[in-house]
This record gives sequence, structure tokens and C-alpha cells, in this order.
Amino acid sequence: MTDTILDEAAVAAAWDRNAEFWTQDVRSGFDLYRELYTLPAFLSFMPPIVGKRVIDLGCGEGSNTRRFARLGGSMTGLDLSPEMIRRARQEENKEPLGIAYEIGSFAELSPFAEEEFDCALSTMALMDGPDLPAALRATSRVLKPGGTLCFSILHPCFITPAVQWLTDEAGAHLGLRVGRYFERAPFVDYWRFRRRLERGESQACGEPFEVPRFPRTLSDYINAVVDAGFRIMRVEEPRPSDEMARNHEWLNRWYQHAPLVLFVSAVKA
Ligand SMILES: C[S@@+](CC[C@H](N)C(=O)[O-])C[C@H]1O[C@@H](n2cnc3c(N)ncnc32)[C@H](O)[C@@H]1O
Repeated sequence: MTDTILDEAAVAAAWDRNAEFWTQDVRSGFDLYRELYTLPAFLSFMPPIVGKRVIDLGCGEGSNTRRFARLGGSMTGLDLSPEMIRRARQEENKEPLGIAYEIGSFAELSPFAEEEFDCALSTMALMDGPDLPAALRATSRVLKPGGTLCFSILHPCFITPAVQWLTDEAGAHLGLRVGRYFERAPFVDYWRFRRRLERGESQACGEPFEVPRFPRTLSDYINAVVDAGFRIMRVEEPRPSDEMARNHEWLNRWYQHAPLVLFVSAVKA
């Protein structure tokens, strides 16, 4: 529990504070989960976007938006954090890919007209906003009929407010303990990217990322998608490959015991 009110202003302020080191780390490839596991799996899961008008909801500093643009999507990136969008635009100026970036909330999408997009993508962002039903309704509004919504989130069944690895005396992972699954009180999570931890590095400011979290159950997600007028087409709980599991114990945990992320693909009915 926290005394701080975690509204959108607080979320924007936290991500503004994270923006400098987040951008440096992501662009340096320090987010190994993204590089090795979650993004390759998401790229295989998402629909083809060549020639489509696509919005990236909660695009951050835009690394994934640029990957989507290189796959042929005509991209718009949207994020609540002005500091993230400033860095995304700087990169677009340096190496133009035709991406438009907007500051705003995916719970409103006010800069956009009805039925403006063919597809909405979102990577690891919808769990970081306070109002999921509003976000899905707004997304439905800006998608054409038949348009696709495809998103990744931390798996709500396993990344609960009281998640903990169980290990034996030698440090081998025995399983994942989840707790407080039904608790929906927002809280602030603090963490660093694994590669920094492996190198024993701390960030220059000495502080980990500060990430406001809004815990929800699996049914909260599924029902919000359905209630916003989408038909769910596919759900995936990607598992690291055999090779990834052999090469990295930290991925082997997610191979053996539970998926870290959940993917959902849905069509506007
Ligand atoms: C974990 S980061 C992911 C960024 C990016 N999608 C990526 O994969 O690198 C979550 C992002 O969601 C953004 N965010 C949180 N709530 C939002 C909202 N209501 N509207 C738009 N963006 C939001 C944050 O500002 C942050 O940049």
C-alpha cells in the first residue's frame, strides 16, 4: 500500500523521472528480457502491419515503435510521459522512419479521430495505467471495424503484488510463489534491468526505476477487452525456447515454472 495517489499525473511524473536512464538502458540492449524473450515472441504473435495505420499505446522512448515501423507499419506512438516522447522524437529526427509521436493518455486518445487506425499495438504498458476499461474503450473508438488490438502485459496470474521465487539451498529455482492475487491496490515497484545487476552496476543516480503498478486479475483484463467491444482471437503465454533456457538460468526459471508475460490479440467487432 502507498499513501501517494497513483493517478495519471503521478504515472507521468514517475516515467518522466525514469526517462533518461530507461532510454539509455533500453537503447544499450540492457533490457535482456525484451531482447531475448518478450519482443521476439511478440513480433511472432502480432498481425502483419505492412501498409497499416498503427498506434503504439504507451510507446515509451519508442524503441519498439521503431521496430514496428521497420516492419512496414505507418506508426503513431503515444505516451503519457513528455520526457519519453521528447526522446522518441529526438530519435525520429536523427533517423526518420515517418513516426508521429503524441503526448497523451491511452485512456482518452483525444488527439485521434474515430476509426483512424487499422491496428493498435501495446507492449508492456497497459498494466501501467490506472484505468484499463477506459483505455480499451478509447482504443475501440479509434480502431476501424475489424481492426486489431494486440498487446503484451506482465502475466496477471503470476506477477502478483506478492510474487517470490522459491529456491533450494544451492539457489536452484523450485517454483514461483504468488500471493495477494485479488489485491488491486496500486503500488510503486522499484527495479533495475538484469544486465546492470549482473554487472554489479547501479544507475548513476543510484536509484532503480520507479514503476507505478495497477494489479488486476486475469478476468479483469479479459472482461475489459470484451466489454469494450472486442472479440478475442488469440491468447498466448510465451515460453522461453529450450536454447534460451539452457543458456540463461534467469530465463530457465520462466521456462520451467510460469510465463512472465501474457499476449492478447482481439478484433473490434
Ligand atoms: C514499461 S514502459 C513500456 C514502454 C514501451 N512500450 C516499451 O515496451 O519500451 C510503460 C509506458 O507506459 C506509459 N503509460 C503508462 N500509463 C499510460 C497512459 N495512461 N497512457 C499512455 N501511456 C502510459 C508510461 O509512461 C511508460 O512509458
